[in-house]
Amino acid sequence: VKPQIAAIIPAAGSGLRLAADDGATGPPKALRRLAGETLLRHAVHCIEHVADEIVVAAPSELVAQITAELAPIRKPVRVVVGGSTRQESVRRALGQVKGTAAFVLVHDAARPMVPPDVVDRVLAALTAGAVAVVPAVPVSDSLRQVGEEGASTALDRHRVRAVQTPQGFRAATLRAAHEQAPDEQATDDASLVERLGEPVTLVEGDLRGFKITRAIDLVVAESLARRQR
Ligand code: CTP
Ligand code: MG
Repeated sequence: VKPQIAAIIPAAGSGLRLAADDGATGPPKALRRLAGETLLRHAVHCIEHVADEIVVAAPSELVAQITAELAPIRKPVRVVVGGSTRQESVRRALGQVKGTAAFVLVHDAARPMVPPDVVDRVLAALTAGAVAVVPAVPVSDSLRQVGEEGASTALDRHRVRAVQTPQGFRAATLRAAHEQAPDEQATDDASLVERLGEPVTLVEGDLRGFKITRAIDLVVAESLARRQR
């Protein structure tokens, strides 16, 4: 039988950096629109073809609106109230994932343009036996690590990667990772799994998997979304 795949979409952030850029005029980040559809709806589209169930973590005041927004999705969707950090939002969503799920994909609502190839590469690595899979891309800028009082040292950019989502996990591994690190403020799930001593497998990401964080990101994504139609 085909292993069951659950998808978690953390969408409960407040989008503070985007709000800072646009003077807090727009709707909450997950409900911002690209080419007529919300970021959340785009993000769900990225993974729905492989997901047997989808659990979305939403801001408490948007649960009803987001539930309605996702009603047309032809997969079982549940919307849960997120937490004050991304990690807590994922943990709460994970609590609603069925016990029968073999694999869990965690995909940021803020990454609306991930192409299907990336999702396929993550799943292929899981199927081949990886416990935690991360799509990653090279970085273009030269990098410096900053310390106290303005001190900084150069990093070799060839030795770093920018990490994207969807990240894929064996369900049991992701559950253990979130149970063991309840107070940490990790910005992704692979870093929690790594603390268990489990290996993290990198697969090739895609530049279109960038995260909508600042106002300029919306400009780029809007142009990609229009071209895609
Ligand atoms: N997220 C979440 N719950 C939180 C914080 C973040 O579910 N308490 C989600 C966001 O909705 C987003 C993803 O995690 O889809 C990545 O987070 P980020 O890009 O940092 O979004 P925000 O936290 O909303 O933005 P900011 O940090 O600028 O406030
Ligand atoms: Mg954030």
